[in-house]
Amino acid sequence: MADLDSTVAAKDYGLGTPQTVPASPVKGSDQLDFGMRHRLGRIFAQDGRTVMLAFDHGYFQGPTRGLERVDLSVVPLAPWADALMATRGIMRTVVPAASDNALVLRASGGPSVLKELSDERVAMDVTDAVRIDAAAVAVQVFIGGEHETQSVHNMTQLVDAGLAVGIPVVGVTAVGRELTRDARYLGLATRIIAELGAQIVKTYYCDENFAHVTAACPVPVIMAGGKKLPVLDALTMAWRAVDQGASGVDMGRNIFQRQHPAAMIQAVRSIVHDGVDPDEAAEIYADLSGGASD
Ligand code: R5P
Repeated sequence: MADLDSTVAAKDYGLGTPQTVPASPVKGSDQLDFGMRHRLGRIFAQDGRTVMLAFDHGYFQGPTRGLERVDLSVVPLAPWADALMATRGIMRTVVPAASDNALVLRASGGPSVLKELSDERVAMDVTDAVRIDAAAVAVQVFIGGEHETQSVHNMTQLVDAGLAVGIPVVGVTAVGRELTRDARYLGLATRIIAELGAQIVKTYYCDENFAHVTAACPVPVIMAGGKKLPVLDALTMAWRAVDQGASGVDMGRNIFQRQHPAAMIQAVRSIVHDGVDPDEAAEIYADLSGGASD
């Protein structure tokens, strides 16, 4: 028979202890709504950082090197990524729906590499992001580009749509060939993107004053990888970016174009989440790849 007296006595109403919820580890997100914070919590780990694996390049480049067969080259890397960034076409056809990664959907597009890249439009409805259970949608913003205003408008449209359903927006600084990737430009572009409502900003690393770029951006900055570099250079760039305030990385070619992509993503992960320095991370790559240098 149940011991009713002791059950009553065991109840604890926590009288005198104010109700609290932990502060969000994601920069600038404490005043967002529940769904938005829940999604950001899927992208960023408890340390406030993320390893995002970008393989959305096909939306303007087609089957670029390393992405000819995403099912073979990228899907096996998912266990080491916090988030996967891809188009809805690749999500639906190749990314396993059972995947527990946060999904970041490419939401802008239009021109191919054969045309003016800044002439993008919003390329999906936010209701489809809800159907896919996206943790965020991503849009290029071409500050200083030929279609700057259109691309900013694409982003603000998505920010409004995302706020309506609780989906964050990743604003991606798209640097045209004619623009310099220095702290002055990247600071301008990242700040504009955050001011106009994006909850995450993705941008390139710059050698001088990258800390100024991250400090002046009120939301998390994640570092874009860019063209494939030698292993140690890519790892050093990731380490410096995180050391100077980036909340992680969103890398593609520097991972999937490697001879040993699984080794590389684990090396990157050790930098982002374990505080490993670039030389140690390069050793991790060498160990896991059987001594490969590329
Ligand atoms: C480019 O527009 C896409 O957003 C890519 O996902 C991004 O550039 C990251 O890939 P990567 O590290 O290869 O530059």
